[in-house]
Amino acid sequence: MLRDLADWIADRRTSPSPIRPPRSAQLPEVTTTGIGINATWAALRDALLPTAFPTDHPRYLAFVGGSPTPAAVIADAALSAASIYGGSELEAGDVVAAERVAIQWLCDTVGYPDTAHGVFVSGGSLANLSALVTARHGRVAPDGRAPASSSPVVRPMPRWAQPPPSWAAGSSRVGSPDHPLRGSDLAAALADVDPRDVVAVVASAGATNTGAIDCLADIADVCAQHGVWLHVDAAYGGAALLSPGRRADFDGIDRANSVTIDPHKWLFTPFDCAAVLYQDPLVARAAHRQRAGYLDAVNDADVDNPADYAAHLSRRARGLPVWASLVANGTDAYVEAVECCLATAEYAAKQIESSPHLELANDPHLSVVLFRRRGWSAEQYARWSERARSRGMALVTPTTFADETVLRLCFVNPLTTTADVDLVLESLECDAPTT
Ligand SMILES: Cc1ncc(COP(=O)(O)O)c(C=O)c1O
Repeated sequence: MLRDLADWIADRRTSPSPIRPPRSAQLPEVTTTGIGINATWAALRDALLPTAFPTDHPRYLAFVGGSPTPAAVIADAALSAASIYGGSELEAGDVVAAERVAIQWLCDTVGYPDTAHGVFVSGGSLANLSALVTARHGRVAPDGRAPASSSPVVRPMPRWAQPPPSWAAGSSRVGSPDHPLRGSDLAAALADVDPRDVVAVVASAGATNTGAIDCLADIADVCAQHGVWLHVDAAYGGAALLSPGRRADFDGIDRANSVTIDPHKWLFTPFDCAAVLYQDPLVARAAHRQRAGYLDAVNDADVDNPADYAAHLSRRARGLPVWASLVANGTDAYVEAVECCLATAEYAAKQIESSPHLELANDPHLSVVLFRRRGWSAEQYARWSERARSRGMALVTPTTFADETVLRLCFVNPLTTTADVDLVLESLECDAPTT
């Protein structure tokens, strides 16, 4: 079994195996006696896992994929094998210290001061939610009253990252999700609102659909004027902070009170691993630390336990793979890998521009490319996409941009080559599949 896993890790990095189409495999059933670990492994390896489209396949270009390094995968596997509880230093020992190093690297990348801190959580959704809970806790109005429970949260957010229902009634959206938010839009929205009723402004640094980055410096100015908490969702886009050429696009991010960056998206870490970072971690600890008699042993005032900084208690030490991969590969490799993805996206955009049957839908941002196949309807995109997936050629899905169905490519895997891009684009030259 371990040899199978080792081969798999190595093979998928060197020559990714073609994806087999889903088959209606007879999976073993749960019985009173069980079938044993060998037969279970055989079913996993041969019948179940091959039906999935691995996110690190070089032509997984839908949604936001992931391409973990071998060092990160090994550390992730070790975490399970070693049965590490990652909530407290008492239990996890130096694993917590290693995660802290990885968090510090992300804080440095954002441009935060040394006093900043954060924690790794399961995903961008929980990171955003945890930051909003912290914002609500930290946002005490000048008159000393806590914000109303229906406080607005300003900025379009993915539905699953929106605030809890009790807040939703008062949440407001500013601008269009398809275009970067400007400081003036935000200022206009806040003009009609009592800032004491605002939990937070949430800006995007790399919108999922388009890759667009909001005008963070202007937004930070407006938030400072109104005394409003600024959270920046850089779950996908934050990796591009490592690109010297793109860094200026993020100006102002270091003034956010909190930031989300997901290593499981574009920082080469296995699912699931997202980071929520706080400029003032004490506010987060005050908001999130749980109290109970049985936790007295870990709740020493001076100890900062990972459980203290987000909406969780038991947790996987999912920052360990980030640390292990940074140690193994060095930070230069991260810069190179991100640059490589940006270059592949630029190549794709150029190829699209020069193809008579294709057309860019907008000026691409970061590593997301939106484009149309001239003459195709939404149904034709859907049929082409399904055929490409079921044949194991590529995972590319349509999206809606400015009320139009278009195709979307998102590059987060440095092993995706220009030949992979060509293969996908050439498959769009033919007529749309009819079934
Ligand atoms: C900008 C942004 N924020 C938040 C999320 C949610 O992250 P997760 O899927 O890890 O919960 C995503 C996911 O694609 C994202 O791109």
